[in-house]
Amino acid sequence: MAPAPTRHFLEFDDFSAEEFAHLFARTRWIKERFKRYEVYQPLRDRTLAMVFEKASTRTRVSFEAGMNQLGGIAINLNRNDTQLSRGEPIEDVARVISRMVDVVMIRTFGQELLQRFAAHSRVPVINGLTNEHHPCQILADVYTAIEHRGPIRGRTVAWIGDANNMLTSWLQAAAVLDFRVHVSSPVGYEVNRAALPRAIAERCESFADPKDACRGADIVTTDVWTSMGFEAENDARRQAFADWQVDAAMMRIARPDALFMHCLPAHRGEEVAAEVIDGPQSVVWDEAENRLHAQKALLEYLVCGRVEP
Ligand code: CP
Ligand code: NVA
Repeated sequence: MAPAPTRHFLEFDDFSAEEFAHLFARTRWIKERFKRYEVYQPLRDRTLAMVFEKASTRTRVSFEAGMNQLGGIAINLNRNDTQLSRGEPIEDVARVISRMVDVVMIRTFGQELLQRFAAHSRVPVINGLTNEHHPCQILADVYTAIEHRGPIRGRTVAWIGDANNMLTSWLQAAAVLDFRVHVSSPVGYEVNRAALPRAIAERCESFADPKDACRGADIVTTDVWTSMGFEAENDARRQAFADWQVDAAMMRIARPDALFMHCLPAHRGEEVAAEVIDGPQSVVWDEAENRLHAQKALLEYLVCGRVEP
């Protein structure tokens, strides 16, 4: 019998709703144990390789700390310190690294590069952010929403701003976990609705006015106006996005118990007003913390398979 194919987490919809239910249950279990200072080390003698081609604070710390807490070690590889910077083909790098470690996390530019790596890897590959997707962040964000408000099924998320990697992963999550996304982006920066798979298009509604997108929302969320890799567009984006700042007036249009979410890093006075991100509806620090716990559940699942409590 052929061995089961290696599982990867390259896009949010690589996993089923049932697998996410498992991951969220494991996240909770792992987090509770961690808070009680109970040692849990299923990844002893296991190694995570982390490849960063873009800057990171949360992703770097959460994967490295998480891997250590699970009993393993993490090796950090910056592009400039490796032979990647001298033109070694990504396929060869994948073949080599994956013979030495048990799991790989990559943050890079194009999703295509990640796919090429995964296609030549013997071990699971995790997307730590690409231009197109940020599934680990949405894993933590959905867990955070559930932690605060219960099941996300049937809820409405308002996305205010750039149709970027975060939005793509939110939209995939909406299709897998069955909730709705209201999207409002400036002209020229909108989601390409024609390219959306039907399951996503059915759950995604576009609004010209960001205030209209907030109506009835359980979660209001946004992200930087200029993502990493798009810095050359900074000035044009500053002008285009000026009316897409989540402020208190927008939050008042959402449901009274709406949460404010942001993957961070944030720019107060640009995509979000300080009164919102530092206000009572904001759960941004929980989102950041939950990167640690959710990714530990992800690492456990990809390396050890389904662990029942
Ligand atoms: N949210 C997030 O991925 O943060 P970093 O860029 O700091 O990793
Ligand atoms: N959309 C942002 C997210 C940063 C965590 C970026 O890609 O830069």
